Amino acid sequence: MSAKKSIQGLPIYQPGKSLEEVKRELGLEKVIKLASNENPFGCSPKVWEALTQIKEQFHLYPEDDAPMLRKQLAESLEVDERRLVFGNGSDEVIQMIARAYLESGIESVMATPTFPRYGTATRIEGAVPVEVPLKDGKHDLDAMLAAVTEKTRLVWICNPNNPSGTFVDHDALNSFIDQLPEHVLVVIDEAYFEYVTDDSYPDSLSLLDYNPRIIVLRTFSKIYGLASFRAGYGIAHPEVIQQLSRVREPFNLNRLAQAATLAALKDETFVVYCRNQNRLGMKQVMEQLDEWNIDYYPSQANFLLIDTGYDGDEAFSYLLKQGVIVRSGKALGFPTYLRVTIGKKEENEAFLIGLNSYLQEKKSRVVT
Ligand SMILES: Cc1ncc(COP(=O)(O)O)c(C=O)c1O
Repeated sequence: MSAKKSIQGLPIYQPGKSLEEVKRELGLEKVIKLASNENPFGCSPKVWEALTQIKEQFHLYPEDDAPMLRKQLAESLEVDERRLVFGNGSDEVIQMIARAYLESGIESVMATPTFPRYGTATRIEGAVPVEVPLKDGKHDLDAMLAAVTEKTRLVWICNPNNPSGTFVDHDALNSFIDQLPEHVLVVIDEAYFEYVTDDSYPDSLSLLDYNPRIIVLRTFSKIYGLASFRAGYGIAHPEVIQQLSRVREPFNLNRLAQAATLAALKDETFVVYCRNQNRLGMKQVMEQLDEWNIDYYPSQANFLLIDTGYDGDEAFSYLLKQGVIVRSGKALGFPTYLRVTIGKKEENEAFLIGLNSYLQEKKSRVVT
């Protein structure tokens, strides 16, 4: 019996290689993972303590709508509690948005390449993804606006964009949203928000104050270092939140995730430390790439998209054998690139040494 038409031909999600997998497959003791934009500094130690405290409650379902986290997050974001919805990762919030707003005959507009889950979630609902190529690695907002039709229900803006790391600034985003017709909702995915240091980055929550058709997505998987707990959230007008809540799975933010995120939110020092370390690590990698004349996109996130000039899969495999897991740009729409997460100083060094020896090897092969 065949499954529903809309999922035929849909690719199955391929994550970056895990540490465990690479250690097993290559028999390596020490492996560095710079493939999935996780936080190399782990998470706040306050999380460990919070998890110990709930160990007697593992057999109980969690509170359904994460009231403690909701209160704390609303306070720190200075938004009304009714403007929040939680998901099993922001991945699940993306799915909820598609479930609530998309159906056959409807379109959703997004950049390409961008975070692939917008397209997948759209197709699962039987709607059509309309993909607008990036211009110089950035969202082409004029072309995206031109792609909006009567059939468009959603526009996705990944900011900073994964995989390019580039961003849309406040004025450009504001003017784009102003020009969108009333029947269109804008999803602004800010998974890397806490890493941003550029002053012209949008204050999307202020835009949301006077425009009810914006949904902002954030996550605890990146700077908070809680990827294994799967916790993300959306911020939107209470009416939008109500629609999303209709399609939300019960207890979707599990007890461990609620406790971990609540504790993590209370440790702003850790976030500031990680943001600073990320900028230092980014500088370390960029300076070396500049010296070698290697192109990359300027990034406001915790990763860099780097042009090796050769086949991305080949460069990926070479580095893997050196015990450094990165992401080949090939499956991400940049065939000669690598996407590398900024790690700790010594991890960045290991990546740069591996990249250098790969490039030297390629060059010597060309000469002979
Ligand atoms: C742009 C973007 N959005 C969403 C996600 C999903 O994050 P989460 O772990 O919260 O599901 C990611 C993860 O890499 C991402 O890069």
